[in-house]
Amino acid sequence: MYICICQAVTDLDIHQAARNGAKTLKDLRRDLQVSVDCGRCASCARKCLKSANEDFSERLQLSASA
Ligand code: FES
Repeated sequence: MYICICQAVTDLDIHQAARNGAKTLKDLRRDLQVSVDCGRCASCARKCLKSANEDFSERLQLSASA
């Protein structure tokens, strides 16, 4: 699903950025140019990144306990 139409950034791109260490919207701006044009995607991008980081943390905890 597209999160940032202006830069053609998808939720999968944001999940990949999270796996590469993105923690904030500022990181997404730097890495994917999210929210650098109209800015309408900022709230959705932030939520997507939060969800991506929670998923990533859960997977790390599961793999550490296996
Ligand atoms: S939709 Fe992301 S900058 Fe416009």
